[in-house]
Amino acid sequence: MVTAETVARLAGSPERWQSPDAVDAWERSPARPTPLGEVDPTQSGPVPTGLGELDRVLGGGLVPGSVTLLGGEPGVGKSTLLLQVLSSMASTGAGVLLVSAEESAQQVRLRAERLGPLPPRLMLLATTDLSALPGALRDTAPVLVVVDSVQAVTDPATAGAPGSLGQVRACTDLVVHLAKLHRVPFVLVGHVTKDGTLAGPRTLEHLVDTVLSVEGDRHHALRTVRAAKHRFGPTGELGLFEMNETGLAAVTDPYRLLLGDRRPGVPGSTVLPAMQGQRALLVELQALTARTAGDAPSRRSAQGVDGGRLALLLAVLEQRAGVSLARTDVFASAVGGIRVAEPAADLALALAVASAVVDRPLPADLVAFGEVGLGGEIRQVPHAPRRLAEAARVGFRHALVPESCPAGPKGMEIVQARSLAEAVALATGT
Ligand code: TYD
Ligand code: MG
Repeated sequence: MVTAETVARLAGSPERWQSPDAVDAWERSPARPTPLGEVDPTQSGPVPTGLGELDRVLGGGLVPGSVTLLGGEPGVGKSTLLLQVLSSMASTGAGVLLVSAEESAQQVRLRAERLGPLPPRLMLLATTDLSALPGALRDTAPVLVVVDSVQAVTDPATAGAPGSLGQVRACTDLVVHLAKLHRVPFVLVGHVTKDGTLAGPRTLEHLVDTVLSVEGDRHHALRTVRAAKHRFGPTGELGLFEMNETGLAAVTDPYRLLLGDRRPGVPGSTVLPAMQGQRALLVELQALTARTAGDAPSRRSAQGVDGGRLALLLAVLEQRAGVSLARTDVFASAVGGIRVAEPAADLALALAVASAVVDRPLPADLVAFGEVGLGGEIRQVPHAPRRLAEAARVGFRHALVPESCPAGPKGMEIVQARSLAEAVALATGT
Protein backbone atom coordinates (compact mmCIF):
# COMPACT_ATOMS: atom_id res chain seq x y z
CA MET A 1 0.00 0.00 0.00
CA VAL A 2 1.25 3.47 -0.82
CA THR A 3 1.16 5.84 2.15
CA ALA A 4 1.66 9.57 2.33
CA GLU A 5 5.06 8.93 3.94
CA THR A 6 6.22 6.65 1.13
CA VAL A 7 5.17 9.15 -1.49
CA ALA A 8 6.83 11.99 0.39
CA ARG A 9 10.04 9.99 0.86
CA LEU A 10 10.16 8.85 -2.75
CA ALA A 11 9.25 12.19 -4.24
CA GLY A 12 11.60 14.01 -1.86
CA SER A 13 9.24 16.93 -1.50
CA PRO A 14 7.10 16.45 1.62
CA GLU A 15 4.87 19.54 1.44
CA ARG A 16 3.73 18.86 -2.05
CA TRP A 17 3.11 15.15 -1.75
CA GLN A 18 1.49 14.64 1.65
CA SER A 19 -2.08 15.38 0.62
CA PRO A 20 -4.49 12.45 0.20
CA ASP A 21 -5.05 13.64 -3.38
CA ALA A 22 -1.39 13.12 -4.19
CA VAL A 23 -1.47 9.56 -2.87
CA ASP A 24 -4.63 8.92 -4.81
CA ALA A 25 -3.16 10.30 -8.01
CA TRP A 26 -0.01 8.24 -7.52
CA GLU A 27 -1.99 5.03 -7.20
CA ARG A 28 -4.37 5.77 -10.04
CA SER A 29 -1.79 6.89 -12.51
CA PRO A 30 -1.67 4.36 -15.38
CA ALA A 31 1.90 5.30 -16.23
CA ARG A 32 4.46 2.60 -15.29
CA PRO A 33 8.07 2.28 -16.41
CA THR A 34 8.65 -0.30 -19.17
CA PRO A 35 11.95 -1.81 -20.36
CA LEU A 36 12.70 0.05 -23.59
CA GLY A 37 13.42 -3.26 -25.31
CA GLU A 38 9.84 -4.37 -24.72
CA VAL A 39 8.29 -1.33 -26.37
CA ASP A 40 6.57 -2.16 -29.65
CA PRO A 41 7.76 0.55 -32.04
CA THR A 42 4.99 -0.16 -34.55
CA GLN A 43 2.15 0.20 -32.07
CA SER A 44 2.08 3.98 -32.02
CA GLY A 45 2.84 4.55 -35.69
CA PRO A 46 0.73 6.94 -37.73
CA VAL A 47 -2.65 5.76 -39.03
CA PRO A 48 -3.41 7.04 -42.56
CA THR A 49 -6.36 9.43 -42.78
CA GLY A 50 -7.05 8.29 -46.34
CA LEU A 51 -6.50 11.81 -47.67
CA GLY A 52 -3.12 11.47 -49.32
CA GLU A 53 -2.27 15.17 -49.33
CA LEU A 54 -2.96 15.40 -45.59
CA ASP A 55 -1.02 12.20 -44.89
CA ARG A 56 1.92 13.70 -46.78
CA VAL A 57 1.96 16.67 -44.37
CA LEU A 58 1.56 14.41 -41.34
CA GLY A 59 4.29 12.02 -42.41
CA GLY A 60 1.88 9.11 -42.86
CA GLY A 61 -1.21 9.93 -40.82
CA LEU A 62 -2.49 10.62 -37.32
CA VAL A 63 -0.66 9.06 -34.37
CA PRO A 64 -2.94 7.37 -31.79
CA GLY A 65 -3.02 9.36 -28.56
CA SER A 66 -1.82 12.54 -30.24
CA VAL A 67 -3.59 15.89 -30.36
CA THR A 68 -3.51 18.00 -33.51
CA LEU A 69 -4.63 21.59 -33.72
CA LEU A 70 -5.97 22.53 -37.16
CA GLY A 71 -5.90 26.30 -37.47
CA GLY A 72 -7.08 28.63 -40.18
CA GLU A 73 -9.26 31.61 -40.91
CA PRO A 74 -13.03 31.19 -40.71
CA GLY A 75 -14.42 29.84 -43.98
CA VAL A 76 -11.13 28.46 -45.30
CA GLY A 77 -12.41 24.87 -45.17
CA LYS A 78 -11.41 23.36 -41.80
CA SER A 79 -14.78 21.73 -41.05
CA THR A 80 -15.04 20.44 -44.62
CA LEU A 81 -11.57 18.89 -44.53
CA LEU A 82 -12.18 17.18 -41.19
CA LEU A 83 -15.57 15.85 -42.21
CA GLN A 84 -13.83 14.24 -45.17
CA VAL A 85 -11.18 12.76 -42.86
CA LEU A 86 -13.90 11.42 -40.52
CA SER A 87 -15.82 9.88 -43.44
CA SER A 88 -12.68 8.37 -44.87
CA MET A 89 -11.61 6.76 -41.59
CA ALA A 90 -15.16 5.56 -40.89
CA SER A 91 -15.53 4.06 -44.37
CA THR A 92 -13.53 1.06 -43.16
CA GLY A 93 -16.30 0.32 -40.65
CA ALA A 94 -14.51 1.90 -37.67
CA GLY A 95 -16.27 4.38 -35.38
CA VAL A 96 -15.33 8.06 -35.46
CA LEU A 97 -16.73 10.93 -33.42
CA LEU A 98 -17.38 14.53 -34.38
CA VAL A 99 -18.07 16.95 -31.55
CA SER A 100 -19.81 19.81 -33.33
CA ALA A 101 -20.15 22.90 -31.19
CA GLU A 102 -20.60 25.41 -33.99
CA GLU A 103 -23.05 23.75 -36.32
CA SER A 104 -26.29 21.93 -35.57
CA ALA A 105 -26.71 18.23 -36.28
CA GLN A 106 -28.86 19.11 -39.32
CA GLN A 107 -26.25 21.45 -40.75
CA VAL A 108 -23.53 18.83 -40.35
CA ARG A 109 -25.66 16.19 -42.04
CA LEU A 110 -26.44 18.44 -45.02
CA ARG A 111 -22.78 19.23 -45.48
CA ALA A 112 -21.74 15.60 -45.08
CA GLU A 113 -24.20 14.51 -47.77
CA ARG A 114 -22.58 16.90 -50.23
CA LEU A 115 -19.26 15.24 -49.60
CA GLY A 116 -20.24 11.64 -50.26
CA PRO A 117 -21.99 8.59 -48.81
CA LEU A 118 -22.43 8.56 -45.02
CA PRO A 119 -20.58 5.76 -43.25
CA PRO A 120 -22.77 4.13 -40.57
CA ARG A 121 -20.38 4.73 -37.67
CA LEU A 122 -19.71 8.41 -38.26
CA MET A 123 -21.04 9.54 -34.88
CA LEU A 124 -22.06 13.08 -34.09
CA LEU A 125 -22.20 14.78 -30.72
CA ALA A 126 -23.74 18.22 -31.21
CA THR A 127 -22.90 20.02 -28.00
CA THR A 128 -20.76 22.77 -26.58
CA ASP A 129 -20.34 20.98 -23.26
CA LEU A 130 -17.22 18.81 -23.09
CA SER A 131 -18.37 16.96 -19.98
CA ALA A 132 -20.29 14.71 -22.41
CA LEU A 133 -17.02 13.63 -24.03
CA PRO A 134 -15.76 10.86 -21.68
CA GLY A 135 -19.12 9.05 -21.90
CA ALA A 136 -19.26 9.44 -25.67
CA LEU A 137 -15.78 7.96 -25.98
CA ARG A 138 -16.78 4.94 -23.92
CA ASP A 139 -19.95 4.42 -26.00
CA THR A 140 -18.46 4.80 -29.47
CA ALA A 141 -14.81 3.63 -29.03
CA PRO A 142 -13.78 5.88 -31.92
CA VAL A 143 -10.55 5.69 -33.91
CA LEU A 144 -10.64 9.48 -34.36
CA VAL A 145 -12.26 12.37 -32.51
CA VAL A 146 -12.69 15.86 -33.97
CA VAL A 147 -13.70 18.82 -31.80
CA ASP A 148 -15.02 21.71 -33.93
CA SER A 149 -14.03 24.17 -32.57
CA VAL A 150 -11.88 24.55 -29.48
CA GLN A 151 -13.19 28.11 -29.15
CA ALA A 152 -16.83 27.02 -29.03
CA VAL A 153 -16.66 24.28 -26.38
CA THR A 154 -16.60 24.70 -22.62
CA ASP A 155 -15.44 22.72 -19.63
CA PRO A 156 -18.17 23.31 -17.00
CA ALA A 157 -15.61 22.94 -14.20
CA THR A 158 -13.77 26.00 -15.44
CA ALA A 159 -14.90 29.61 -15.20
CA GLY A 160 -15.08 31.89 -18.21
CA ALA A 161 -16.91 32.24 -21.49
CA PRO A 162 -16.28 29.93 -24.47
CA GLY A 163 -13.24 31.09 -26.37
CA SER A 164 -11.64 32.73 -23.33
CA LEU A 165 -8.06 31.77 -22.69
CA GLY A 166 -8.97 29.86 -19.51
CA GLN A 167 -11.66 27.82 -21.28
CA VAL A 168 -9.59 27.09 -24.34
CA ARG A 169 -6.72 25.90 -22.16
CA ALA A 170 -8.94 23.80 -19.91
CA CYS A 171 -10.65 22.14 -22.88
CA THR A 172 -7.33 21.40 -24.52
CA ASP A 173 -5.97 19.93 -21.29
CA LEU A 174 -9.00 17.65 -21.07
CA VAL A 175 -8.61 16.56 -24.67
CA VAL A 176 -4.89 15.84 -24.22
CA HIS A 177 -5.75 13.72 -21.18
CA LEU A 178 -8.50 11.76 -22.98
CA ALA A 179 -6.37 11.24 -26.08
CA LYS A 180 -3.60 9.66 -23.99
CA LEU A 181 -6.00 7.63 -21.85
CA HIS A 182 -7.89 6.11 -24.80
CA ARG A 183 -4.95 6.13 -27.25
CA VAL A 184 -7.12 7.90 -29.81
CA PRO A 185 -6.01 10.76 -32.05
CA PHE A 186 -7.89 14.02 -31.53
CA VAL A 187 -8.06 16.93 -33.92
CA LEU A 188 -9.07 20.33 -32.54
CA VAL A 189 -10.26 23.06 -34.86
CA GLY A 190 -8.99 26.54 -34.00
CA HIS A 191 -10.04 29.70 -35.78
CA VAL A 192 -7.26 32.15 -36.41
CA THR A 193 -7.77 35.63 -37.77
CA LYS A 194 -5.30 37.20 -40.20
CA ASP A 195 -3.55 39.16 -37.45
CA GLY A 196 -3.67 36.14 -35.09
CA THR A 197 -5.32 38.14 -32.32
CA LEU A 198 -8.04 35.67 -31.38
CA ALA A 199 -7.49 34.02 -28.00
CA GLY A 200 -6.50 30.42 -28.22
CA PRO A 201 -4.66 28.79 -31.07
CA ARG A 202 -1.41 30.71 -30.73
CA THR A 203 -1.17 30.00 -27.01
CA LEU A 204 -2.17 26.35 -27.44
CA GLU A 205 0.68 25.46 -29.72
CA HIS A 206 2.88 24.05 -26.97
CA LEU A 207 0.06 21.98 -25.41
CA VAL A 208 -0.57 19.92 -28.53
CA ASP A 209 1.65 17.55 -30.54
CA THR A 210 0.99 18.92 -33.99
CA VAL A 211 -0.15 22.26 -35.34
CA LEU A 212 -1.46 22.33 -38.89
CA SER A 213 -2.62 25.40 -40.73
CA VAL A 214 -5.01 25.58 -43.64
CA GLU A 215 -4.47 28.58 -45.84
CA GLY A 216 -6.04 29.87 -48.97
CA ASP A 217 -7.43 32.86 -50.69
CA ARG A 218 -11.20 33.24 -50.66
CA HIS A 219 -11.12 34.07 -54.39
CA HIS A 220 -8.94 31.15 -55.38
CA ALA A 221 -9.74 27.42 -55.18
CA LEU A 222 -6.30 26.41 -53.91
CA ARG A 223 -6.02 25.45 -50.23
CA THR A 224 -2.68 24.54 -48.70
CA VAL A 225 -2.08 22.57 -45.52
CA ARG A 226 1.25 22.72 -43.74
CA ALA A 227 2.59 21.80 -40.31
CA ALA A 228 3.87 24.62 -38.13
CA LYS A 229 4.83 22.09 -35.45
CA HIS A 230 4.99 18.33 -35.70
CA ARG A 231 6.26 16.09 -32.93
CA PHE A 232 6.27 13.00 -35.15
CA GLY A 233 7.99 14.13 -38.29
CA PRO A 234 9.32 16.93 -40.46
CA THR A 235 7.35 20.15 -40.95
CA GLY A 236 8.35 21.08 -44.50
CA GLU A 237 5.71 19.18 -46.47
CA LEU A 238 2.89 20.99 -48.19
CA GLY A 239 -0.54 19.49 -48.87
CA LEU A 240 -2.43 20.86 -51.85
CA PHE A 241 -6.21 20.83 -52.19
CA GLU A 242 -8.75 22.42 -54.45
CA MET A 243 -12.13 23.51 -53.03
CA ASN A 244 -15.01 22.50 -55.27
CA GLU A 245 -18.73 21.63 -54.96
CA THR A 246 -17.99 18.29 -53.34
CA GLY A 247 -15.46 19.48 -50.81
CA LEU A 248 -11.68 19.48 -50.94
CA ALA A 249 -10.06 17.44 -53.68
CA ALA A 250 -6.37 16.56 -53.78
CA VAL A 251 -4.49 18.54 -56.39
CA THR A 252 -2.92 15.84 -58.51
CA ASP A 253 -1.38 18.19 -61.01
CA PRO A 254 -0.22 21.36 -59.22
CA TYR A 255 1.27 22.55 -62.50
CA ARG A 256 -2.18 23.11 -64.01
CA LEU A 257 -3.41 25.04 -60.97
CA LEU A 258 -0.25 27.09 -60.42
CA LEU A 259 0.88 27.83 -63.97
CA GLY A 260 -2.34 27.29 -65.93
CA ASP A 261 -3.12 31.01 -66.20
CA ARG A 262 0.42 32.10 -66.95
CA ARG A 263 0.88 34.46 -69.88
CA PRO A 264 4.29 33.89 -71.43
CA GLY A 265 6.02 36.86 -73.00
CA VAL A 266 5.15 39.31 -70.24
CA PRO A 267 8.09 41.12 -68.62
CA GLY A 268 8.55 40.57 -64.88
CA SER A 269 7.65 36.88 -64.79
CA THR A 270 9.91 33.93 -63.95
CA VAL A 271 9.28 30.31 -63.06
CA LEU A 272 10.93 28.83 -60.00
CA PRO A 273 11.12 25.08 -59.33
CA ALA A 274 10.51 25.50 -55.59
CA MET A 275 10.94 22.77 -53.00
CA GLN A 276 8.05 22.27 -50.61
CA GLY A 277 9.31 19.51 -48.36
CA GLN A 278 10.44 16.65 -50.59
CA ARG A 279 8.37 17.76 -53.57
CA ALA A 280 9.35 20.20 -56.32
CA LEU A 281 6.59 22.59 -57.39
CA LEU A 282 6.78 25.06 -60.24
CA VAL A 283 5.79 28.50 -59.00
CA GLU A 284 5.51 31.67 -61.04
CA LEU A 285 7.16 34.72 -59.48
CA GLN A 286 6.06 38.11 -60.72
CA ALA A 287 7.46 41.59 -60.35
CA LEU A 288 6.11 44.93 -61.41
CA THR A 289 8.08 48.13 -61.19
CA ALA A 290 6.81 51.69 -61.52
CA ARG A 291 8.24 55.13 -61.06
CA THR A 292 7.74 56.41 -57.49
CA ALA A 293 5.26 59.28 -57.41
CA GLY A 294 6.47 62.74 -56.31
CA ASP A 295 8.53 62.89 -53.13
CA ALA A 296 6.96 59.80 -51.61
CA PRO A 297 9.36 57.06 -50.43
CA SER A 298 9.66 54.17 -52.88
CA ARG A 299 7.21 51.37 -52.17
CA ARG A 300 8.19 47.73 -51.73
CA SER A 301 5.50 45.11 -51.62
CA ALA A 302 6.06 41.35 -51.24
CA GLN A 303 3.28 38.77 -51.42
CA GLY A 304 4.14 35.13 -50.90
CA VAL A 305 7.83 35.99 -50.94
CA ASP A 306 9.96 37.25 -48.07
CA GLY A 307 9.97 41.04 -47.81
CA GLY A 308 13.41 41.19 -46.21
CA ARG A 309 14.86 38.95 -48.89
CA LEU A 310 13.31 41.13 -51.60
CA ALA A 311 14.92 44.27 -50.11
CA LEU A 312 18.29 42.51 -50.04
CA LEU A 313 17.97 41.37 -53.66
CA LEU A 314 17.07 44.88 -54.80
CA ALA A 315 20.25 46.17 -53.15
CA VAL A 316 22.36 43.44 -54.80
CA LEU A 317 20.71 44.10 -58.19
CA GLU A 318 21.56 47.77 -57.88
CA GLN A 319 25.08 47.44 -56.48
CA ARG A 320 26.37 44.31 -58.22
CA ALA A 321 24.32 43.90 -61.39
CA GLY A 322 23.91 47.49 -62.53
CA VAL A 323 20.10 47.45 -62.42
CA SER A 324 18.99 50.92 -61.43
CA LEU A 325 16.12 50.98 -58.96
CA ALA A 326 16.31 54.59 -57.77
CA ARG A 327 12.86 56.19 -57.38
CA THR A 328 11.24 52.88 -58.34
CA ASP A 329 8.31 51.15 -56.64
CA VAL A 330 8.68 47.36 -56.64
CA PHE A 331 5.80 44.89 -56.26
CA ALA A 332 6.68 41.21 -56.13
CA SER A 333 4.56 38.14 -55.60
CA ALA A 334 4.39 34.37 -55.83
CA VAL A 335 1.30 33.47 -57.86
CA GLY A 336 -1.48 31.16 -56.70
CA GLY A 337 -1.32 31.69 -52.95
CA ILE A 338 1.89 29.67 -52.55
CA ARG A 339 4.49 30.95 -50.09
CA VAL A 340 8.12 30.69 -51.11
CA ALA A 341 10.60 31.16 -48.31
CA GLU A 342 13.76 29.35 -49.44
CA PRO A 343 16.93 31.20 -50.50
CA ALA A 344 16.83 29.13 -53.69
CA ALA A 345 14.13 31.56 -54.87
CA ASP A 346 16.61 34.47 -54.92
CA LEU A 347 17.74 34.17 -58.52
CA ALA A 348 14.24 33.79 -59.97
CA LEU A 349 12.95 36.71 -57.89
CA ALA A 350 15.86 38.97 -58.84
CA LEU A 351 15.41 38.06 -62.51
CA ALA A 352 11.71 38.89 -62.33
CA VAL A 353 12.58 42.36 -61.02
CA ALA A 354 15.35 42.87 -63.58
CA SER A 355 13.01 41.76 -66.39
CA ALA A 356 10.37 44.23 -65.20
CA VAL A 357 12.89 47.08 -64.99
CA VAL A 358 14.30 46.56 -68.49
CA ASP A 359 10.80 45.69 -69.76
CA ARG A 360 11.92 42.54 -71.56
CA PRO A 361 10.32 39.15 -71.02
CA LEU A 362 12.41 36.11 -70.14
CA PRO A 363 12.25 33.07 -72.44
CA ALA A 364 8.92 31.31 -71.84
CA ASP A 365 10.56 27.90 -71.37
CA LEU A 366 13.14 29.05 -68.81
CA VAL A 367 13.23 28.20 -65.11
CA ALA A 368 15.74 29.65 -62.65
CA PHE A 369 16.94 28.85 -59.16
CA GLY A 370 19.92 29.69 -56.95
CA GLU A 371 20.80 31.66 -53.87
CA VAL A 372 22.20 35.15 -54.40
CA GLY A 373 25.06 36.24 -52.10
CA LEU A 374 25.77 39.81 -51.04
CA GLY A 375 28.70 39.87 -53.45
CA GLY A 376 26.32 39.15 -56.32
CA GLU A 377 27.52 35.56 -56.63
CA ILE A 378 25.08 32.71 -57.36
CA ARG A 379 25.33 29.96 -54.77
CA GLN A 380 24.28 26.34 -54.99
CA VAL A 381 21.06 25.13 -53.38
CA PRO A 382 19.79 21.70 -52.32
CA HIS A 383 17.76 19.30 -54.52
CA ALA A 384 18.89 20.64 -57.90
CA PRO A 385 18.21 17.31 -59.70
CA ARG A 386 14.67 17.13 -58.35
CA ARG A 387 13.94 20.73 -59.37
CA LEU A 388 15.28 20.13 -62.88
CA ALA A 389 13.36 16.88 -63.28
CA GLU A 390 10.04 18.52 -62.42
CA ALA A 391 10.72 21.45 -64.77
CA ALA A 392 11.63 19.06 -67.60
CA ARG A 393 8.56 16.92 -66.91
CA VAL A 394 6.16 19.76 -67.69
CA GLY A 395 8.06 21.01 -70.71
CA PHE A 396 10.61 23.62 -69.64
CA ARG A 397 13.73 23.41 -71.80
CA HIS A 398 16.24 25.82 -70.21
CA ALA A 399 17.39 26.32 -66.65
CA LEU A 400 19.49 29.17 -65.33
CA VAL A 401 21.33 27.68 -62.37
CA PRO A 402 24.40 28.04 -60.11
CA GLU A 403 27.75 27.08 -61.61
CA SER A 404 28.11 23.90 -59.56
CA CYS A 405 24.75 22.53 -60.64
CA PRO A 406 24.87 18.98 -62.04
CA ALA A 407 23.82 18.21 -65.60
CA GLY A 408 20.09 18.31 -66.25
CA PRO A 409 17.75 15.61 -67.49
CA LYS A 410 17.39 14.85 -71.19
CA GLY A 411 15.95 17.72 -73.20
CA MET A 412 16.89 20.32 -70.58
CA GLU A 413 19.67 22.77 -71.34
CA ILE A 414 21.58 23.94 -68.26
CA VAL A 415 22.89 27.50 -68.33
CA GLN A 416 25.31 28.12 -65.48
CA ALA A 417 25.72 31.63 -64.12
CA ARG A 418 28.45 32.70 -61.74
CA SER A 419 27.04 36.09 -60.89
CA LEU A 420 23.75 37.91 -60.85
CA ALA A 421 25.09 40.36 -63.45
CA GLU A 422 25.84 37.45 -65.77
CA ALA A 423 22.43 35.86 -65.11
CA VAL A 424 20.58 39.13 -65.82
CA ALA A 425 22.49 39.56 -69.08
CA LEU A 426 21.83 35.96 -70.16
CA ALA A 427 18.15 35.97 -69.25
CA THR A 428 17.10 39.39 -70.54
CA GLY A 429 19.51 39.50 -73.46
CA THR A 430 20.86 42.88 -72.35
P1 TYD B 1 -15.83 25.41 -43.90
O1 TYD B 1 -15.28 24.05 -43.93
O2 TYD B 1 -17.15 25.62 -43.26
O3 TYD B 1 -14.79 26.44 -43.28
P2 TYD B 1 -14.27 26.61 -41.76
O4 TYD B 1 -14.70 25.40 -41.00
O5 TYD B 1 -12.78 26.74 -41.91
O6 TYD B 1 -14.86 27.87 -41.25
O7 TYD B 1 -15.85 25.88 -45.43
C1 TYD B 1 -16.59 26.95 -45.76
C2 TYD B 1 -16.50 27.27 -47.22
O8 TYD B 1 -16.28 26.18 -48.08
C3 TYD B 1 -17.83 27.86 -47.57
O9 TYD B 1 -17.59 29.16 -48.08
C4 TYD B 1 -18.41 26.96 -48.61
C5 TYD B 1 -17.23 26.21 -49.13
N1 TYD B 1 -17.57 24.84 -49.53
C6 TYD B 1 -17.43 24.47 -50.85
O10 TYD B 1 -17.05 25.27 -51.71
N2 TYD B 1 -17.72 23.18 -51.23
C7 TYD B 1 -18.15 22.25 -50.33
O11 TYD B 1 -18.40 21.09 -50.72
C8 TYD B 1 -18.29 22.65 -48.97
C9 TYD B 1 -18.78 21.66 -47.95
C10 TYD B 1 -17.98 23.94 -48.60
MG1 MG C 1 -16.11 25.35 -39.46
